[in-house]
Amino acid sequence: MLTKAFIEERKWAKDSQFFIETLAPENSEQTLRFVLEKLGRLPSDFDPNPFLDLLKHEYPNVRLLAVKNIGKLKDAALLDVIAQFAEGEPNTTARREAISTIGRMRTPKAIPLLIAFLNDPDPKVVLQAIRGLIIFKMRPEVQSALTELANHPNELIQDVINQELSAKTESKQEKQPAHPKSLDALKNVIVHADVKDVLSATPDESVHLTFTSPPYYNARDYTLYESYAAYLQFLTDIFREVHRVTKEGRFFVLNTSPVIVPRVSRAHSSKRYAIPFDIHPMLMQIGWEFVEDIVWVKPERTAKNRNGGFFQHRKPLGYKANSVSEYVMVYRKKTDRLIDWNMRQYDEETVEGSLVKGDYEKTNVWHIHPASDKVHPAIFPTDLARRIIQFYSFEGDLVFDPFAGIGTVGIASLMLRRYFFLAEQEGKYVQKAMRDIEGSVFKSVSSRCLNLAQFIAILKGQK
Ligand SMILES: C[S@@+](CC[C@H](N)C(=O)[O-])C[C@H]1O[C@@H](n2cnc3c(N)ncnc32)[C@H](O)[C@@H]1O
Repeated sequence: MLTKAFIEERKWAKDSQFFIETLAPENSEQTLRFVLEKLGRLPSDFDPNPFLDLLKHEYPNVRLLAVKNIGKLKDAALLDVIAQFAEGEPNTTARREAISTIGRMRTPKAIPLLIAFLNDPDPKVVLQAIRGLIIFKMRPEVQSALTELANHPNELIQDVINQELSAKTESKQEKQPAHPKSLDALKNVIVHADVKDVLSATPDESVHLTFTSPPYYNARDYTLYESYAAYLQFLTDIFREVHRVTKEGRFFVLNTSPVIVPRVSRAHSSKRYAIPFDIHPMLMQIGWEFVEDIVWVKPERTAKNRNGGFFQHRKPLGYKANSVSEYVMVYRKKTDRLIDWNMRQYDEETVEGSLVKGDYEKTNVWHIHPASDKVHPAIFPTDLARRIIQFYSFEGDLVFDPFAGIGTVGIASLMLRRYFFLAEQEGKYVQKAMRDIEGSVFKSVSSRCLNLAQFIAILKGQK
């Protein structure tokens, strides 16, 4: 029986005959795959002929593994065979593997072949060709071929090219001592004002994380908008400003859910608005990059019952689901720096103190009981805010909530040794937030409640 150990042994014994027999095209697909998968690293003088014979095998997986093994030989004499294979290969995965194989050979002889594949209709083939060419990017012919792709219709290709060709790339890996810092004027502050004005006064790149749940569209009595379009525009304007005040590569987490506006009379129907889905394209346009869709699930008994009618009549089309979920959409301020870069901005002690230790939710479905409050009709639970702050910020970071309500984000930030910066326009919610923060275990933390004029004056004093 064929075993991995036996294949290994025959490989180093340079037993060509053994491989000619075990890799004969007429053998079963299972045998061929087994041998091809178990071959591992190959001696440089390994006979490539058994692989070459398999490039026309009827099973795409066999062809793919054959080309992968050819690549391991790093034999420039085989480049043309691989390129020809890629040109005629109908299976996309095998074609991509062939281009990647050519790239992995890291030989200048591959340059013209890889350049030819930059025109391939499959963006993944183009990306593989780019990957292979990057190590030669200082050569003029490679530079000019890559530059031509700057306006490629595929966004991933555009991103890679812009990043690779930008002169900043090297220096961008530097540490920025200012990144973990934030202005004292913003630390542990609630501004009692319209967030639009608060944001106008807030300097660029001053917050590390924003977590918020915006006012609902006409679903509660505390906010009213002229139209749904006006509501979305209002949120878009605010979140564009949030983008401006967010530090490079940092996160914005938005909790929303579809809302229902009840019908005017029995002659009309109620209307549902899919807020998370409608706001998403706006956020992408602003320059937020989509990272995660977390679904916050509440116990069924806490959901409003919409099932009365259907439960009775059971007629199709009349079904209505009781909504037990809300969306927690995670975005990152778009940058070509990796998240690792953001992590590297912190010293060891801060990283150690911020580690998310113990058990944590590993899926994107978070079961959390909703919270309620006598003063505010729509708060989110502290546990939700805690998780977000823990996962998306470091100790000492500044966490912003533009629609702060009774300051749940403030309490959760203090619990996790972060600073909060909150805006809320309703006096009664601001008072409750201050009462809760000052009356909590964080009495010793000096927090401030400011009106707009005070906020602007303090900021001016700091600049
Ligand atoms: C869904 S609640 C947020 C509740 C908050 N997450 C909490 O746990 O307390 C939205 C809040 O946004 C506030 N708000 C609405 N428009 C605002 C504006 N233009 N400026 C500041 N706050 C505003 C409302 O007063 C409301 O308290």
